[in-house]
Amino acid sequence: MLKIGLVGARSKSTVLGFKALAEKVEIKAICDLDEEVAQKISKEHNIPHVFRIYEDMLMSDIDAVVIATPMQLHVPQAILALQAGKHVLSEVTAGVTMDELWWLIESVEKSGKVYMMAENYCYIPQNFVISEMIKAGLFGKLYFGEGEYLHCIEDMLLHRNGQASWRNFWQLGKRGAFYPTHSIGPVAQWFGEDRIDSIACFSSGQNRAKELGLRQDDTSLTMCQMKSGALVKIRVDCMSKRPHNMSYYSLQGTKGAYEAPRGLGDDHKVWFEGMQADSDKMNWQPLADFYDKYLPNRFKRASEEEKSAGHWGGDFFLVADFVDAVLENKLPPIDVYRACEWTAVGLLSELSVTNGGRSINMPNFRKNMPLSEQIISL
Ligand SMILES: NC(=O)c1ccc[n+]([C@@H]2O[C@H](COP(=O)([O-])OP(=O)(O)OC[C@H]3O[C@@H](n4cnc5c(N)ncnc54)[C@H](O)[C@@H]3O)[C@@H](O)[C@H]2O)c1
Repeated sequence: MLKIGLVGARSKSTVLGFKALAEKVEIKAICDLDEEVAQKISKEHNIPHVFRIYEDMLMSDIDAVVIATPMQLHVPQAILALQAGKHVLSEVTAGVTMDELWWLIESVEKSGKVYMMAENYCYIPQNFVISEMIKAGLFGKLYFGEGEYLHCIEDMLLHRNGQASWRNFWQLGKRGAFYPTHSIGPVAQWFGEDRIDSIACFSSGQNRAKELGLRQDDTSLTMCQMKSGALVKIRVDCMSKRPHNMSYYSLQGTKGAYEAPRGLGDDHKVWFEGMQADSDKMNWQPLADFYDKYLPNRFKRASEEEKSAGHWGGDFFLVADFVDAVLENKLPPIDVYRACEWTAVGLLSELSVTNGGRSINMPNFRKNMPLSEQIISL
């Protein structure tokens, strides 16, 4: 039985997923500095042990932790867990400085434990459908992709007690794409073994940000040049007053294109070569027409309990992949190397945007990465 400890209130988003795996997993403990919050989650979900202090939970009889505390705590808490011999499922982003990313990779390698980043947008079913269509060759050679995260978080700037929350500093107190993984993650997965070679970030300056007295720009665009030469564009905007759109993606290949919905009755749609011969009459086809053939079987066969975890089973499969990686002692789909590359898009974007959009090389995050490559090169 794999025994799980949760830290941070948001970790409850994994509870239904773990419960659907009750024959191999047991949630043993919940930890939150706010004891009232921890007690409430413990009662709601029958979690036997409650801790206020994370280190105390690590000394208890658990095998793995789910870290869902503020971003600046992810790496310190992940390293403590790995040192204590626990596996880690960490909320996004992986870390808040480049140094932290090297420390995280070294700690994962030294510990031999599983580390997975819980990038749940990679588990949106439509994103899996596109992955399967790519594998079937429908898009031809990929050369452009986009991800956008448009989510005004103004109302998250104050804690319940009226104090300024961590988001004033580690999110809206930064420049560039401070929260890139929901946007780059799914698109990077479509590009498979290709990796991000360099990034450059541009911003629209401060309008709303100025009114709110924050350092973040209203909108930032980060261009990721892939090793293959392909281009991926990331837009992050957590400031503008407008309807949210946190999961807009698009993809272009030599034989086909995909666009996610942008609102007002719009839907997921694709176009493939050969659909219409006349280029003036080219039209989209709903992605839903292809679910029968390309939605992975595990989504089609998802039980009501698995679907109840959220996102048509997506939240369940994220947890299931983590549990499989631990029980089968294998690399999880979003391992520490991918987690660091996607997180570094944001960390390097800050350096780029403050240097006039200068292009910055992405380190090649991989096993036993030599010290000589743990640098930020222009
Ligand atoms: N994947 C997603 O879709 C998604 C959505 C929202 C938030 N997140 C991520 O989840 C994390 C938490 O975000 P949130 O919105 O829940 O933040 P929050 O500030 O609302 O909650 C953080 C919780 O962590 C607790 N906490 C803080 N320090 C602690 C410590 N040292 N030990 C134990 N508990 C501690 C706080 O008491 C609070 O309950 C962030 O990293 C955020 O990026 C991810």
